[in-house]
Amino acid sequence: MKYSRIIGTGGYLPEKVVTNDDLSKTLDTNDEWIRTRTGIRQRHVASPEQDTSDLALIASQRALASAGLAADDIDLIVVATTTPDMVFPSTACVLQDKLGINNGSAAFDVQAVCSGFIFALATADRMIVSGMAKNALVVGAETMTRTLDWTDRGTCVLFGDGAGALVLQASETPGVLSSHLHSEGRQRHILNVPGQIRDGKIYRSPFVYMDGGAVFRFAVRVLAESTEEALAHNGLQSADIDWLVPHQANSRIMDATAKKLSVPPEKVISTVAGQANTSAASIPLALDYGARQGCFKPGQLLALTAVGSGFAWGASLVRWG
Ligand code: UT7
Repeated sequence: MKYSRIIGTGGYLPEKVVTNDDLSKTLDTNDEWIRTRTGIRQRHVASPEQDTSDLALIASQRALASAGLAADDIDLIVVATTTPDMVFPSTACVLQDKLGINNGSAAFDVQAVCSGFIFALATADRMIVSGMAKNALVVGAETMTRTLDWTDRGTCVLFGDGAGALVLQASETPGVLSSHLHSEGRQRHILNVPGQIRDGKIYRSPFVYMDGGAVFRFAVRVLAESTEEALAHNGLQSADIDWLVPHQANSRIMDATAKKLSVPPEKVISTVAGQANTSAASIPLALDYGARQGCFKPGQLLALTAVGSGFAWGASLVRWG
């Protein structure tokens, strides 16, 4: 088959909601500051019993239901996560087991932090096109709040937990048109969780560190650049974009990216107000939101673009339906 095509989407957000006002009870912050700087109003937080794979499981079951496939039809699972259940095995292998899939097909994780979903989608797409798989489950799932220092107002207000999934199927019609991936490891100091397990202890900080201003400037530049690269590769222009589905880090980054690309605000999918930044889960959650709201029509052009720690970033162009 020449292409892979999205045939189903699913999402899951944990039940517990923490509003900006809730945070301001224990932190020197307020709803107005958070909303005007980020567009975020609330975030969902996983319960202590929930692992990343539990969030991924519900999102995957919903994606399978919307695709009309049984779990056993899946012959590839790629999970984008930077907050796996454990050091190993991969969250994808845990998810495969929880879905009851025992057909011997491949399951593995991709770790590219907030851009992870684009990397996972690109990987699954190429594996399908090369004939290695027919029906792939591509998941972004995170419990980012577990990496937060709840006393650091510069970072803890920004993130939330969640999972999004889609089913990608081999197809003669597009589908994913192309994906464009980039990394710049020398920028790894501006956003990271430097901790590692060593000798039975956590070595270095287990919390998110971020130089917010540097991240902001880098993000706006590369989100627009990689989208333009994808458009040029396909002989398209920004006017051809029906929906921009950017990584949901913060509304000011999304607004600035849309402006750089001359995409009007009504063509931008935005879920950040209710979900905050769910890292690798944000794009599949936004796709699921757009699909369930009936925004996307068959044949429409979707531009997906994400950036995150690494730095790593990229864009994919997708024909819907
Ligand atoms: O996937 C990528 C994830 N990262 C991001 O999306 C973050 C990108 N960066 C940003 O969105 C912005 O840099 C932030 C929203 C994080 C910060 O906005 P800013 O306008 O760059 O603020 P700032 O860091 O320059 O801080 C301005 C002031 C400081 O106070 P002083 O030093 O001027 O007195 C901060 O201490 O705002 C203070 N501040 C806060 N005040 C209330 C920082 N965080 C908060 C807060 N509530 N939560």
